[in-house]
Amino acid sequence: MYKKAKSMDATRKQSRKRITSDRSTWEGEIERLAWGGLGISRLEDGRVILLNAPLALFPHEVVRASVRQKSKHAEGEVVSWIKPSPLRAAPGCPTAGLCGGCDMQGAGSHYSDLKLSMVEDLFHRMLPNQPWDWLSAPMSALRHRIQLHWDGKSLGFHQRKKHTLVPISSCPAAVPTISQSIPRFEEALASHVLPSRPQRWELAAGTPPTDVFAIDEKQRAWLLEPDGWQKTEKSVVHNFLDHRLTHKPGGFFQASAAWAMESFHSVLSGWNLHGDTLYDLYGGVGLFSAILGDRFKNCVLLESDGDSIFHATQNLTSAKLRHQCIQADVAEWMPDYLGEAGDVILLDPPRAGLDAQVVQKLLNSKASALILIGCDGAAFCRDIKRLSQVWKPYKITVTDLFPMTVHVECVGMLAKRSD
Ligand SMILES: C[S@@+](CC[C@H](N)C(=O)[O-])C[C@H]1O[C@@H](n2cnc3c(N)ncnc32)[C@H](O)[C@@H]1O
Repeated sequence: MYKKAKSMDATRKQSRKRITSDRSTWEGEIERLAWGGLGISRLEDGRVILLNAPLALFPHEVVRASVRQKSKHAEGEVVSWIKPSPLRAAPGCPTAGLCGGCDMQGAGSHYSDLKLSMVEDLFHRMLPNQPWDWLSAPMSALRHRIQLHWDGKSLGFHQRKKHTLVPISSCPAAVPTISQSIPRFEEALASHVLPSRPQRWELAAGTPPTDVFAIDEKQRAWLLEPDGWQKTEKSVVHNFLDHRLTHKPGGFFQASAAWAMESFHSVLSGWNLHGDTLYDLYGGVGLFSAILGDRFKNCVLLESDGDSIFHATQNLTSAKLRHQCIQADVAEWMPDYLGEAGDVILLDPPRAGLDAQVVQKLLNSKASALILIGCDGAAFCRDIKRLSQVWKPYKITVTDLFPMTVHVECVGMLAKRSD
């Protein structure tokens, strides 16, 4: 009996070790985690396989994945766990793994360490020898904006990588006022109080998150009042320390608004930034001018969106900052030699990072410092490398601005090379 049990165990062990690769299914052990939460392993022929999953992956887990062959590597989508890590925890949400929102659910108390190991992988590969700091998210870091889909019958998130609806009645990743408003929002859609045609909606809240706005695809907004959803022209308001920032409902503002304002403030105010002109490029409604503006004689904010420029002008006026808010495309507006000694150029471009024309102009700049902000770690590291012949990164902080996801925000300060 003992012998039989032992041999069965040996066989199982062997099959776990044996990596079977065919067109569609692969089973094997994850060697390590890489940037983006990808599990890294190897096929039988030695090629790398990159594994994606709807929940957090841990090193040394044995998983089954459906595989797509590429010319030099393979990509797999984990479909089940054969040997889950003992560190794995029950996800804190009933739709975890389905809705595609929080792809690091299941990491439990090891979440921050796992995320840190991914960022280490990125910097090790892209900016080796570059020191950087890590700022982890507090439990209170919740989303002030979520996107929902209404299909005419149900309300929910889109399933991960699909357009199928995953119905929800709450969202623990959002601030409680948004999460609690979801049933009333669904009721209003179902009873035609709100436009009931199938479409994408945003629910948004200010800081503190007392008011909840619903915004449809036409950018019309409704505010949740005690007697139901009322059409509104009001702005979303974010208060932080003595700053007051407004934006149009549906317009851009940081998703985890309260945590974003707190973390950017704590990072940037520790960097001794001051000078003549602060160029706030890709400035939105003026978040960074508001945080840093009183350390400079003048702020110049560049932004392509008209509504954001309208609010930035109001926000910086009420903050009593000397400013100029210009609606323009950064690459087109930027002169070949932007900035003088004493000026600081802050850039917070969209996810793709800086375009080549902007990088070239920054290489010519006479400004004293650059602040580069990026919500895609890989694009941020690439831009730091592209600027590196002239600009040396002195400080980099990676912030967990998007809790329970594989995304981070990078903030870097660069000064002219003297070496
Ligand atoms: C990542 S957001 C940052 C906004 C702002 N710094 C903040 O944190 O609230 C990028 C901003 O750049 C603007 N933008 C995108 N492309 C642009 C361009 N080519 N020129 C100027 N602004 C642009 C967007 O409208 C958006 O407001």
